[in-house]
Amino acid sequence: MTIKNNLFKHEKHLRTIVGILLIASAIYFDIWWISIFAITLLITSSYEYCPIHDALGINENEAKRNYYLSQFPLFNPEPVLLFKEDGRLDFANNAGKKIFKDVKLLEELYPKQCKTAHDLVKEKASIFNKVKIGDLTYMIHFKGVSEIGSILAFAFNVSDLVKINEEIINTQKDIVYKMGEIGETRSKETGNHVKRVAEYSYLLAIESGLSQEDSDTLKIASPMHDIGKVGIPDAVLKKPGKLDLDEWKIMQTHAELGYEMLKGSERPILKAAAIVAKDHHEKWDGSGYPNRTIGEDIHIYGRITAIADVFDALGSKRVYKDAWELEKILDLFKEERGKHFDPNLVDIMFENLDKFLEIRDSYQDIA
Ligand SMILES: [Fe+2]
Ligand SMILES: [Fe+2]
Repeated sequence: MTIKNNLFKHEKHLRTIVGILLIASAIYFDIWWISIFAITLLITSSYEYCPIHDALGINENEAKRNYYLSQFPLFNPEPVLLFKEDGRLDFANNAGKKIFKDVKLLEELYPKQCKTAHDLVKEKASIFNKVKIGDLTYMIHFKGVSEIGSILAFAFNVSDLVKINEEIINTQKDIVYKMGEIGETRSKETGNHVKRVAEYSYLLAIESGLSQEDSDTLKIASPMHDIGKVGIPDAVLKKPGKLDLDEWKIMQTHAELGYEMLKGSERPILKAAAIVAKDHHEKWDGSGYPNRTIGEDIHIYGRITAIADVFDALGSKRVYKDAWELEKILDLFKEERGKHFDPNLVDIMFENLDKFLEIRDSYQDIA
């Protein structure tokens, strides 16, 4: 049978010394039972094994902790940190000390809305968080390790990935703007119309409580609301006078056309643009097109873009009409609140009117 050692070196030496002292005392004072303790200490020290330690699990946790620490790549070029359950920094490898030199507490890197450090440890859970340090972006993987009551934090430099991702998003953005402009140019709208619609839509989205991600997506997607107009014949689209009933029906197909053009994509921005194209002429009371959808069944992206688009179109000068006075536009929104437009969104628009006007002023059409 092999006996596993469970005593640390200093404990072994201590037991030997105390054992010898106790033997001396037993002889000197002639108290025989002291020698039982002495012999026990000497035997356990020579085997480096203590059955009481074994039964109570003493040293085991410390040994595990040492094991985990020994696994730490001290010279790993990526930062590795260890936090205690109470959030204090316990260990940092060389890269960790250099890059996160000011970090002393877990909360400085850990996402606020996530589960507590205690639960993270107890459940041995994993959490990821993106942290910016100067020009660099790090993705940190927090891992609860209940065996040592600690949180491991492995950080990876993802700056290049973030840049590439931004590139991809910006490219999508540019393409989407261009597509939006194509749609609008065919209907004699200006390039700045799509920019203003994007800004108004974002403002309404964020103020109505949509997430930052959804608001960003809508900002990029809403300028594409009229992309379906690329499929409307010139005879209808560019007709100088009023459209007759058949022509109007053809014109209305631009919503469905835009949706059909974009719906196949799995990209979130294009998916959102497809929704915007389909729903931006639906009306709250169900009198819109193409599907006469009612109320909240109209996608929030569609309801928001409808307000942004109409607010901007009315306030802009076109060959066939002058720009409306602000007062007249606001009267129309009051009148159409709960009819054409989502009443809640109209209220939000009025609450943020100053910001709407700021946007209008910063993206003016060039005469
Ligand atoms: Fe439209
Ligand atoms: Fe438009």
